[in-house]
Amino acid sequence: MIRTHVLPSGLVDQPTMGPLPLRGSPHGIGDRAPSLRSGQALRLLDLFCGAGGCSVGYARAGFEVTGVDIRPQPRYPFPERFIQADALEYVTAHGHEFDAIHASPPCQRYSRGSRQSATNDRHPDLISPTRAALMATERPYVIENVANARPFLVAPFVLCGAMFPGLRTYRHRLFECSVFFLVPPHQRHTVRSPRTNAYREGQFMTIYGHVSPVGKALEAMGITWSMTQYETAQAIPPAYTELIGRSLLDAMTEGVA
Ligand SMILES: C[S@@+](CC[C@H](N)C(=O)[O-])C[C@H]1O[C@@H](n2cnc3c(N)ncnc32)[C@H](O)[C@@H]1O
Repeated sequence: MIRTHVLPSGLVDQPTMGPLPLRGSPHGIGDRAPSLRSGQALRLLDLFCGAGGCSVGYARAGFEVTGVDIRPQPRYPFPERFIQADALEYVTAHGHEFDAIHASPPCQRYSRGSRQSATNDRHPDLISPTRAALMATERPYVIENVANARPFLVAPFVLCGAMFPGLRTYRHRLFECSVFFLVPPHQRHTVRSPRTNAYREGQFMTIYGHVSPVGKALEAMGITWSMTQYETAQAIPPAYTELIGRSLLDAMTEGVA
């Protein structure tokens, strides 16, 4: 059963847990024993998966992850479990086959860049139909999006790169979750954060648009596989979904999700 949280926003940003260490070798997967159901790892569906930033975080947490994207994703880290399809059609037909579902609908409708160029209205609001499709599956779900999408999300909490040792980007992202759990406190930003091409040692990076050099931006996000400039600009640091995935797994194995 889904427990839709009805917390006053702000409560989720309480200082309740320490930051997580980043993980090592191939995508950092395998450091934590997978949570099992009948001898199998729990299965998570990553909708709008892109080149896999969110997928790798959930895999590090212990899920077996399947990614869905409307475009081919040749750099997706789990090619054997990548499906090219429309996310809403796929989740409607197959969502119930998974134990939990994550969705990162395209942010162009809500992003600051689209607002500046007054092109928001050319992009559909995909968050509302995505939520409806996710709720119909009766599976625990997570919806991720940019800070400007806050009015479209239900009681979201923010994750920031400063919460995770080793990341060099603030890269705020909002998460709406059907399961309640606590996240690290959001600290004041203390260092400059120029775009990647102007980055200096000791600073953080602001990553968007025509990212250059790509390798520096990937390193700042803790992404250990290759991505194009476009994929890099879209990607989520895997540490964010590793944190969420661990909490989700704990809730699911305790039977409260
Ligand atoms: C913000 S990006 C996802 C980034 C990814 N979560 C990551 O961490 O690397 C959004 C993705 O949605 C995909 N997309 C857009 N419309 C879609 C649709 N109708 N069905 C499936 N994927 C779609 C795009 O191709 C793009 O890869």
